[in-house]
Amino acid sequence: MPIMRVVEYSAAGGPEVLALAERERPVAGNGEVLIKVAAFGLNRADVQQRRGVYPPPPGASDIPGLEVSGTIAALGSEATGFSIGDEVCALLTGGGYAEYVAAPEAQVLPIPAGVGLIDAAGLPEVVATVWSNLFMEAGVQAGDNVLIHGGSGGIGSMAIQLVAGAGASAIVTCGSAEKIAHCLRLGARAGINYREQDFVAELDRITGGAGADVILDVVGAKYLEQNVKALAPDGRLVVIGLQGGATAELNLGVLMGKRARIIGTTLRSRVVSEKGRIMAELREEVWPLLENGSVLNHVDRRFSLQDYRSAHEYFDSGLHRGKILITV
Ligand SMILES: NC(=O)c1ccc[n+]([C@@H]2O[C@H](COP(=O)([O-])OP(=O)(O)OC[C@H]3O[C@@H](n4cnc5c(N)ncnc54)[C@H](OP(=O)(O)O)[C@@H]3O)[C@@H](O)[C@H]2O)c1
Repeated sequence: MPIMRVVEYSAAGGPEVLALAERERPVAGNGEVLIKVAAFGLNRADVQQRRGVYPPPPGASDIPGLEVSGTIAALGSEATGFSIGDEVCALLTGGGYAEYVAAPEAQVLPIPAGVGLIDAAGLPEVVATVWSNLFMEAGVQAGDNVLIHGGSGGIGSMAIQLVAGAGASAIVTCGSAEKIAHCLRLGARAGINYREQDFVAELDRITGGAGADVILDVVGAKYLEQNVKALAPDGRLVVIGLQGGATAELNLGVLMGKRARIIGTTLRSRVVSEKGRIMAELREEVWPLLENGSVLNHVDRRFSLQDYRSAHEYFDSGLHRGKILITV
């Protein structure tokens, strides 16, 4: 079997556990394509997996990496949507930190015109997460107030643009004034410094007492009570991250009084058909926005493969705004 280079985790821990290794090159199965990877994107989930607190779901590769860009190198049986040499990007359940990866073709899209092959690696996980949660699950509409926690991260930077593009108000929380400035440049209506300000009181002031129709939350338990307090009547809280813990207490009376809903999702554990439905919507709804330049794919920094540890160190520093990519 042909061999390929991968970046793997030798143990649970910090960036020092990342290691270059050799593995057998995967083969495209039924309905899959083999992608020669040009670049892969870093995500918080990779770090959680590296720390040993977010194991890959059953059946997924132990190699990290949830999104790549590259060219089609081989077609599995019944894969009919692409040709060898096509430039694509793909949403993965794992295996992206590698020279080659096989993916169900339902999870693969052509590169949007105008986006470079390398930079397209930062699109699939972020756009699929933001679109599926804010638009498919929470039904964001024009005129809504949308509170986005962590507005300057990879997810937040895309969420701001899609919310603003839909005619809704993006209000963000960030850990510094400089990150708030980045969010305002991307189209946020207002920013709240979560280290210095009470976000519930600030949101109330910014929205004239209306509250948030939708909240995209990456913090979890630590913010649950405040998030529910910040919701408008009929509001939707979508929890997609647990950086502030998974277990919390909630006064359900407040939730009932607002007829509010709490939604929790993970993209990674969705089955191929659901991921395919999300990718089809991205191609229809978001790809045109990337192609006409109304939504920008905000890449903070690109590292080369041999600098894989530095890339994780930089991600851990929290200094980035937008995506971090590694070119293969
Ligand atoms: N459920 C899913 O399917 C799914 C999919 C993808 C991502 N996610 C989650 O989405 C989150 C963002 O992922 P990412 O890849 O974009 O990572 P990232 O670029 O590192 O972003 C992390 C963000 O979290 C913010 N944050 C941390 N503590 C906060 C607090 N107390 N209040 C407000 N914001 C806080 C950070 O804000 P500052 O930098 O300003 O401190 C930063 O913007 C992660 O939690 C990840 O697990 C979930």
